[in-house]
Amino acid sequence: MKKNIWVATANINKVEEFKVLLPNYEIKSLLDFKEVLDIPEDFETFEENALFKAQTLYDIIDETVIADDSGLCIFGLDNFPGVKSARWASPEKDWNKINDKLLEKMLEHKLNSIDQRQASFVTVIAIFNKKLNIKEVFRGEIQGTILTKLTGNQGFGYDPIFAPSNHQNSFAQMSTSEKNKYSHRAIACQKLREFLDKI
Ligand code: IMP
Repeated sequence: MKKNIWVATANINKVEEFKVLLPNYEIKSLLDFKEVLDIPEDFETFEENALFKAQTLYDIIDETVIADDSGLCIFGLDNFPGVKSARWASPEKDWNKINDKLLEKMLEHKLNSIDQRQASFVTVIAIFNKKLNIKEVFRGEIQGTILTKLTGNQGFGYDPIFAPSNHQNSFAQMSTSEKNKYSHRAIACQKLREFLDKI
């Protein structure tokens, strides 16, 4: 029987990616919870947010928890939206509008050429289990280009405007398995798997 790993997220897209990225584990998430658990992510770094999410869920279920905190860092905008990726456009929830708003911001800052449109997608995964004395973070980062318009309809969040370096296609034009070959989350998960293999 596979061991459980809890993921402190209610984002179904992230859950699906984790199922593929950690095939040796039974992935449980906030989607398996009856009550709604909305964990704030107000810290200044991905590391702090990821650890806080993992610790918050661990305090409730007392089992090993992982949590990721991710964001898109646009170099020409001083890494904006970065750690604020989930909330800078709040209360807007429509991802087409959020992505359009970000593209408008880039135009306002005259970020037109490919060189000016460079960005990186960052994921930090925290793993926490107080009883087992486990508290680690793993960072995954992939550089790419912000496209001039939304492209593709797979994936989620910023996927339609981000194409990894050396690829014409946006993440939203890729299947989950293709995105998982080189995404920020896949890189962080590889480090997590190496850690899990050792414990
Ligand atoms: P979170 O705080 O880790 O949930 O993520 C910050 C924001 O980035 C969320 O609004 C997500 O929709 C978005 N995001 C996180 N991971 C990805 C990804 O792999 N692709 C596209 N958008 C993402």
